[in-house]
Amino acid sequence: MKAIIYTEYGPPEVLKLQEVDKPTPKVGEVLVKVHAASVNYIDWQLLKGESFFLRLLNGLTKPKQEILGDDIAGRVEAVGEMVKHFKPGDEVFGISDFGAFAEYVCADEKYLALQPANMTWEEAAAVPVAGITALLGLRKLGQIQSRQKVLINGASGGVGTFAVQIAKYYGAEVTGVCSTSKLDMVRSLGADNVIDYTKEDFTKSGRRYDFILAAGGYHPISDYQRALSSEGVYVCCGGNFAQYFQAAFLGPLISMTGSKKLGSIGMAKPNIKEFDFMKELLEAGKVKPVVDRCYPLSKTAEALRYYGEGHAQGKVVITVEQNNLT
Ligand SMILES: NC(=O)c1ccc[n+]([C@@H]2O[C@H](COP(=O)([O-])OP(=O)(O)OC[C@H]3O[C@@H](n4cnc5c(N)ncnc54)[C@H](OP(=O)(O)O)[C@@H]3O)[C@@H](O)[C@H]2O)c1
Repeated sequence: MKAIIYTEYGPPEVLKLQEVDKPTPKVGEVLVKVHAASVNYIDWQLLKGESFFLRLLNGLTKPKQEILGDDIAGRVEAVGEMVKHFKPGDEVFGISDFGAFAEYVCADEKYLALQPANMTWEEAAAVPVAGITALLGLRKLGQIQSRQKVLINGASGGVGTFAVQIAKYYGAEVTGVCSTSKLDMVRSLGADNVIDYTKEDFTKSGRRYDFILAAGGYHPISDYQRALSSEGVYVCCGGNFAQYFQAAFLGPLISMTGSKKLGSIGMAKPNIKEFDFMKELLEAGKVKPVVDRCYPLSKTAEALRYYGEGHAQGKVVITVEQNNLT
């Protein structure tokens, strides 16, 4: 099969289209013929290999996992032993844990769901990591309530575009923070208010929020603490090492000393319940993925280059045109 391989850390140019062996599903795994995949921040970080922590996981000097990509939408080709929920021919979407930038990938069945009826492959592939991260952050970790004043920082990216819509679904009053050119798009997703971070620092405005979900960190934790109402909740999904460290380790300490709750989402791992709930939201039209650009598999390096500029609107998607690759 064709796949996008990288054998050294570096810029997008190290990604090459190559012929490799088709994978075989292990116990509990499903072999999926990939129709679309999407790019996440973790792909960008693993490509560059700049984080020592990620190098510890994926090889200090060269990548152990040579095929990037986590998000998939495609058709089940075969199933391994003990697979209970899927059969060949099923159309699925989910998380493959590496290997998605290829014609075929194996995925654990617990990270897959049947594809929503009303969606294209590209739309479905845009959902899993970003959509489930937003859902887990708002619902499971932060226990969002209707009528809360919720602020989504990084509202125009992959996680943020889902978070705005999910928070609206829960009846919150939503403020989205993004750059100037994305304000209208974030408003169109249902945000009641928008703030242009290039013109205003919301943490210094004096306004207080019951819930802040930050896609990246963007600010030190003390800024978020200041912007929360007296019993407010702050959930951090990512960011640079310092921001993430503060949320993961200082956040719980700060939470013990007062009524505000601050913390990080950790590595968001979904289960069938979250996927089913997300599928309901998608099928009911309550949530719609925002797809910025689609690139063919052979142009994955270009897709990563565009993503790495840091200002994609929603998701960047890779379309795998089966049997039509050069
Ligand atoms: N914990 C997990 O399992 C998990 C899963 C997925 C993602 N994440 C984390 O979530 C973060 C975002 O991921 P993503 O997929 O949403 O990334 P993304 O699609 O690249 O979006 C990032 C957004 O950040 C915005 N941004 C940049 N500087 C900003 C600032 N100073 N203030 C507010 N917004 C700013 C950009 O918006 P503009 O274009 O408007 O500037 C961009 O749209 C990453 O740090 C990632 O590691 C974590």
